[in-house]
Amino acid sequence: MTGKLLSVAGYNAWLGFNRVESSKISNPYVDWCGRIVAAEKGEIFGTAAAELTRGIESLFGIRPLTSESTEGFRCITFGTFEGGNELISRTFGAEIRSTIVPEGYAIKTNAADGCIAIGASTASGVLYGVFHLLRLLGTGCSVDKLELVENPNNGLRMINQWDNIDGSIERGYAGESIFYVNNEITMNMERVRDYARLLASIGINAIAINNVNVHKYETMLLTDKFLPDVAKLADVFRAYGIKLFLSINFASPIEIGGLSTADPLDPTVRNWWSRITAKIYTAISDFGGFLVKADSENRPGPFTYGRDHADGSNMLAEALQPHGGIVIWRCFVYNCKQDWRDRSTDRARAAFDHFKPLDGRFHDNVILQIKNGPMDFQVREPVSPLFGALEATNQVIEFQITQEYTGQQRHLCYLVPQWKEVLDFQTHAKGGNPSVKRIVDGSVYGRRFGGFAAVSNIGNDANWTGHLLAQANLYGYGRLAWNTELSAEAIAEEWVRLTFGGDDRVVRTIKGMLIHSWSIYESYTAPLGVGWMVNPDHHYGPNVDGYEYSKWGTYHFADCRGVGVDRTVKTGTGYAGQYMGDNAARYESVENCPDELLLFFHHVPYTHVLHSGVTVIQHIYDSHFNGVERAEQLEETWSGLAGIVNEGLYEQVAERLKEQAEHAREWCDMINTYFYRKSGIADQLGRKIYS
Ligand code: GCU
Repeated sequence: MTGKLLSVAGYNAWLGFNRVESSKISNPYVDWCGRIVAAEKGEIFGTAAAELTRGIESLFGIRPLTSESTEGFRCITFGTFEGGNELISRTFGAEIRSTIVPEGYAIKTNAADGCIAIGASTASGVLYGVFHLLRLLGTGCSVDKLELVENPNNGLRMINQWDNIDGSIERGYAGESIFYVNNEITMNMERVRDYARLLASIGINAIAINNVNVHKYETMLLTDKFLPDVAKLADVFRAYGIKLFLSINFASPIEIGGLSTADPLDPTVRNWWSRITAKIYTAISDFGGFLVKADSENRPGPFTYGRDHADGSNMLAEALQPHGGIVIWRCFVYNCKQDWRDRSTDRARAAFDHFKPLDGRFHDNVILQIKNGPMDFQVREPVSPLFGALEATNQVIEFQITQEYTGQQRHLCYLVPQWKEVLDFQTHAKGGNPSVKRIVDGSVYGRRFGGFAAVSNIGNDANWTGHLLAQANLYGYGRLAWNTELSAEAIAEEWVRLTFGGDDRVVRTIKGMLIHSWSIYESYTAPLGVGWMVNPDHHYGPNVDGYEYSKWGTYHFADCRGVGVDRTVKTGTGYAGQYMGDNAARYESVENCPDELLLFFHHVPYTHVLHSGVTVIQHIYDSHFNGVERAEQLEETWSGLAGIVNEGLYEQVAERLKEQAEHAREWCDMINTYFYRKSGIADQLGRKIYS
């Protein structure tokens, strides 16, 4: 960690482990924590010991002794089941061991042997167990009678950095890249290591370190010029059990290989990929594989050669297969120039239309990465209908932690409740009703790979995420990827306790703010599923017809008669028909479609009455006014914590909330005025909507 940064409030994030007042420390705590017994050698075991030591020092102000001997005083011990640690062998019998998957772990207070034991079948499992114990200690849980088993729900728990080699970050709102500066890989490995710590502590096990939009210079990451430094980054992540991936440009054989084609069926192209992949594995023996954005938003891809996504991804899969690597191929594919006057095309349909027909054609080491919704990380979208529709294809769900369309880390928007809704959505797949979370973890269709990927929200800002409270989104993403059953409330509470300490008032207040923030943001920006009302290119701030692709027709069809997109089968784009069973019927029907998605699926008159009993136009007005009031309340609520939370943390948040309230007013003015002018219908409550 960098000395200067360490002293900045927020740098340690949820690993700061606030000192427990000595009067509150009971003897057993100090007894257990005074000694760490760890016998196994290896990098990750070293990490586990260092993290445990560091956490205990922060919490209790004591430096634990470390020893290999299992004899003596009470201790915390960790190790693998087969690693020869007697305390581990005695604590965990065959029955428990058999329930633990490679990255899982068990923790047990073994009073008879005087230890708290963390057992796993792999070093990574041990490390996750150590972080779990620290979380318990850090949130004030009793450790006297621990007996728990944890297995991750998802095999792949990945982070995507959208960092460019010039140091900028696409859709980054927390400073510059911690990985690159001035077209070089940074040598500030301490900062990278501190990021790895944060990620491992929440269970992340994979990272793609460069933007999915791979431009010419970034393609060089695959070459000798950069590979040695990429390998150094891989070393840092390896010590935390995290595999490194690279985003690649599909046209690399042309860009850096001197070939005249990147046709995936051309033998010279296939050879080229095999050679370059082998070279990467020479530099990084446990390299994870490639992340690919192809034939999307002007990125090259197999379409140029009359091939499809299966041809493209399978070629890369074959190059990676001998080394145990995987290809993660994104489904974010659509025609940017879609002309909305032609109502038979619809961006929402695109991913399904492209990929559903290819189901079953992808190799075993190809994973499709599917955005949570059919469009692009709006504040509210339906769930992508691809979940459940792909039966014979590995898939991961893609979330966006960076708040591109959800306030850009200037507004508070805790996204875990949104993600939970997506994960709990019932797909009606396989003649039953499995939820999205069971589709993406691979269990419903018995897939080899499954899991989560998400676009990171960190940069080189001292507190990582710009808005301090946005740390909760990174934390929540990792915790949810590990355990999809955790509630948004439980995750929020855990994060607040770890970050701000255990004062009940602080915990209650911040947790409440987090939990309501998504609905607040939605209400003053884009209610009823309408989406997209942002300025072009940077996607911040209100602009009803602003979105860059709106130049080929608006994204919401607002005119003097009504608003919303008809995506029904009967009269619209047919998108509603991509869902299965009751879902298709519910979305097709204007009567049954849930209010919060009404304008996503239907074009309705402003006077249409919602289930809530008010008209659409009245809802638009009310929601915006109400959102502003609630944003102002956030600011006020926070001010009640002045002098109670750490001053450095307090000020950072106060400043952002002030800006949020101001910008919420602007959203409200712009949107309400627009719809007042369009519809000619005044606010029935007589509020001022015309400024
Ligand atoms: C959005 C975003 C782009 C990004 C793209 C993607 O369109 O605005 O910056 O490249 O998503 O997910 O590939």
